Formats: sequence, C-alpha cells, structure tokens
Amino acid sequence: MAKVLIGCETSGIVREAFLSMGHDAWSCDILSSDTPTNRHIQDDIRNVMNDEWDLMAVMHPPCTRLCNSGVRWLSKAPEGRTLEDMWRELDEGAELFSEVWNVAHIPCVAVENPVMHRHAKERIRNYEKPTQTVQPWQFATDEMGPDNERKRTCFWLRSLPALSPTGTLDGTSARDSVFKASPGADRWKVRSKFFPGIAAAMAKQWGDAAQQQLLAAA
Ligand SMILES: C[S@@+](CC[C@H](N)C(=O)[O-])C[C@H]1O[C@@H](n2cnc3c(N)ncnc32)[C@H](O)[C@@H]1O
Repeated sequence: MAKVLIGCETSGIVREAFLSMGHDAWSCDILSSDTPTNRHIQDDIRNVMNDEWDLMAVMHPPCTRLCNSGVRWLSKAPEGRTLEDMWRELDEGAELFSEVWNVAHIPCVAVENPVMHRHAKERIRNYEKPTQTVQPWQFATDEMGPDNERKRTCFWLRSLPALSPTGTLDGTSARDSVFKASPGADRWKVRSKFFPGIAAAMAKQWGDAAQQQLLAAA
C-alpha cells in the first residue's frame, strides 16, 4: 500500500480521513498526537519527509509569522518579545515552509497555510501563488457542525488538482469562532485545528488523483 505523510499535524484530522479511505497514512509533528494512536511520528518533519512517502504528502507548517493576520508584529513586537525575535521567527517559518514545499521525491504535495504577507512570500524558495483558496463552510453539510466556519485557507499544490467543494451551505450562517478563540495558552491550537469536511475531500479527491498517477507511472 502506498504511503501518505501528513506533516505538522497533532489533531489527526487529515490522517484519519486518509486512513478511512484505506490509505497507509501517518502524521508527524514535533508534539505528540492529541489522541492515542500508533500512526503518529513525534519528530521534526525534516527528519521524516525524506523517507519513502510514495503516494503523497499534506503539510501544515506553522503560519504564525507568515500569515497576513500577524504582519503587524513585524513592526511592533508583542509584549515581552523583540522585533529581532519576530524577524528571526519569520525567517525560520519561511525556511520550514520552503523545505516542505520543495521536497522533491514525494510525487504529489499539498501545503496548507492562511493568506500570507509579502515578507513571507519573498523568503520562500520557488514561491508560487496558491493554487486555490477555500473556506471550511464550502465543505459543510450541517449548520451546527464543525465545518460551518469562516477561515480563508490556501493550498499550494504540486501534481494535485484543486479541491471541489463538497458542502451544501452558502456561507451565510458560517461562524467566526476561529478568530474569536479566547485568549489563553492553547489559543494557537484552537486556531490551527483543521476541519473534517476539507480533510474528507482531500482524502477522497487527492487520494484518488495521486493513486491514478501512481498506477500510470507503474
Ligand atoms: C499550524 S499548526 C497545524 C496543526 C494542524 N492543522 C492540526 O490539525 O493538528 C503547525 C504545527 O506544526 C508543528 N511543527 C512546528 N515545527 C515543526 C517541525 N519542524 N516538524 C514537525 N512539526 C512541526 C507544531 O507543533 C504545530 O502542531
């Protein structure tokens, strides 16, 4: 069975979606998995991504210093931090994004991040515009469910088609809970948790597309 790597994921949401479609999927993060599993590798993604991932990879590298919503911190550092910290963390974030985006031997790669500011784009090697931008509610079928949210999500895709929305809602009832997450130590985790509707579409649509390419190349 061909292997799928889900990089920088603790929630297991994308990993479980690929597993439920019958793929040999593994998540990897420097942190442990949020829930018990024997399908999580706790390590730096850079130590793991060069193994044999012969179907595809979905990567969720940290966006804190790359995303448009945080660009203000590059001119006025948050309390207790320096501008030097902010620019160093931007360089580190752009470097990790570059490494997962440019990983050459995985046949199909998707990198997910929010809308980026120009300083991030300038630092990413072989930067390209995202292939597509989606909203979680486009993959929602239940107004009260976890997918009926607004959060602009960009995909940089290599050898994968843009996702087709699978939802039935029109966005008018979509919530903003991602932006309204209450302050606290785990705010970043609440804000970065992924959405099961998009994950299911990835596993079905990208899993099928990558499988077809693998068969065609055999
Ligand atoms: C934006 S969050 C993505 C969370 C993901 N969407 C989920 O549902 O679990 C970024 C993740 O990257 C992880 N991370 C940061 N640097 C990493 C590295 N070098 N290798 C692997 N994971 C890393 C963080 O621990 C964090 O869980």
